[in-house]
Amino acid sequence: MTTPAITRTGRGDPAGGRAAPPAVLVEGVSRTYGSGARAVHAVRDVSFSVAPGQLVALVGRSGSGKTTLLNCIGGLDRPDAGRVVVSDRVVTELSEKGLVALRRDVVAFVFQTFGLVPVLSAAENVGLPLRLRRARTAEREARVELLLALVGLSDHARQRPGELSGGQQQRVAIARALANSPRLLIADEPTGALDSETGQSIMRLLRAVVRSEGMTAIVSTHDPVMMELADRVLHLSDGRLVEGHPVGGSVTGDSVLESPADERP
Ligand SMILES: Nc1ncnc2c1ncn2[C@@H]1O[C@H](COP(=O)(O)OP(=O)(O)OP(=O)(O)O)[C@@H](O)[C@H]1O
Ligand SMILES: [Mg+2]
Repeated sequence: MTTPAITRTGRGDPAGGRAAPPAVLVEGVSRTYGSGARAVHAVRDVSFSVAPGQLVALVGRSGSGKTTLLNCIGGLDRPDAGRVVVSDRVVTELSEKGLVALRRDVVAFVFQTFGLVPVLSAAENVGLPLRLRRARTAEREARVELLLALVGLSDHARQRPGELSGGQQQRVAIARALANSPRLLIADEPTGALDSETGQSIMRLLRAVVRSEGMTAIVSTHDPVMMELADRVLHLSDGRLVEGHPVGGSVTGDSVLESPADERP
């Protein structure tokens, strides 16, 4: 349906040769709210790309533009300038219908506030994206069972969100996000509403599912544990990307973060 934006050049070469096409490409993205003297430049000329399979942590102070940038990448908001490509879709050129399809088939979101439907059980919440896609009942039930097992909630399938702990609710939200096997998972402070221990278990779960499902993820966070689990840390300051910080990987470039990975305990 959509025209592939990037010419596929063959397999990625981890040794640093000809790379696979990026899973996410952000080019010169800016988003300004309001105008004139009261304009807020939430995101300013941000460019970066994410290789398939990477887990990227997006960090920065409150108000630095993390949510705005994530929404522009996932098609919940439109930038005023620049271009976003996710997988083979040019997000910034999609129609409303195209954006709906993007969020159904390609990108999934996990939010700080979980966003579950209170009157539905955990299993029904997880199955919702499959219902929207009109998956067959047997397929849906099997997938829901597998996803609940993946996030360790097989025994809580019938409980409603109000009958689950915060960490359990976020697990349901993660399972739901995985329902349609998205290529990109966007999580906006997924542990922000949880105590630190529960938050850590959610971050480890995210790390594990990104690996096992072979998808790409961008996770905004204030938590140093997430930064350690990430393959790469992107730092926003006042709407600008201040540097890309490689943690355990093949990304080149110097970091100006104060505590590089090799100096952490
Ligand atoms: N709908 C809006 N209208 C006007 N200004 C907005 C809107 N949404 C965000 N902003 C402003 O844009 C800037 C970036 O906000 P954003 O929510 O992206 O920051 P953030 O990094 O996600 O912060 P936090 O860590 O608190 O979630 C802030 O100055 C904010 O006040
Ligand atoms: Mg935010």
